[in-house]
Amino acid sequence: MSVSFLKSLLGIGILISSVVAVFTMLEIFGRSGKKYDIEKLKKIHRANGIVYFLLFILITYFCLDFIINTKTELSPRALIHSLYAVAILLLLGLKFSILRVYRQFYNQVKIIGLLIALISFAMFAASGGYYLLITKFGSDKAFMEAVSLKKEPVKETVKIALKTDPESIGKGKELYESKCYFCHDAYSNKREVGPGHKGILKNPLLPMSKKPATPENVANQIRNPYKDMPSFSYLSDEEVENIIAFLNTL
Ligand code: HEC
Repeated sequence: MSVSFLKSLLGIGILISSVVAVFTMLEIFGRSGKKYDIEKLKKIHRANGIVYFLLFILITYFCLDFIINTKTELSPRALIHSLYAVAILLLLGLKFSILRVYRQFYNQVKIIGLLIALISFAMFAASGGYYLLITKFGSDKAFMEAVSLKKEPVKETVKIALKTDPESIGKGKELYESKCYFCHDAYSNKREVGPGHKGILKNPLLPMSKKPATPENVANQIRNPYKDMPSFSYLSDEEVENIIAFLNTL
């Protein structure tokens, strides 16, 4: 399962949790006659709040890990998503401090709660929802076409020396595991976000662009990706060669 898909599923958890939070809050404060046991509702609301927070932290961890490892610039969508996330975090902190300390503001807590739920929906729509939609709920295929923004064809890289010594392969493997494995499976041809890499340099053609599977074209993909892959233009020639040395063993 790709990390993006996992994050989207956790995002659905956040949505469900938001609905539960709003529903219990409305039942506690909104109804004139009481239908449910208020104490029970309060307990559910509190436990649900903890579940929400844990999901939030888990998704945040995946997002930060991804950003740190791939060192990609945030897309406008990812930027909006992270602003929503920061807003939610601040509102959660505010809500918690009012509940614990600044009780005079107790009445505002409901509005803050509603805001958190609304922003949660917007945040999910901007990312997890979008991702599930374009991948047809993770079954992919349309993904590349749907999100592709054709880039200019780019200049070919100069000839690459194909290294076969164990040291280069080892270094390449390490780089691969920190930069590429989020989106690619090295040991199969299964599609994660990008195509699997098994036999990538042994097959005649590259899987997506259908260019000849040469070290030069792979180096080019790393520096100036064909479509939606982030560019790794900051890697040195040597690092690119090491990654290719590793890919050549698959
Ligand atoms: C954020 C996800 C992501 C990361 C990280 C990523 N890729 Fe990709 N990769 C893709 C996608 C999506 C494609 C499909 C083609 C495209 O859009 O460029 C792809 C395609 C490829 C292809 C096939 C290109 C073709 O012409 O068919 C190769 C080779 C490749 N990636 C190598 C790498 C290597 C090496 C790394 C690590 C340095 C890496 N990728 C990191 C998403 C990613």
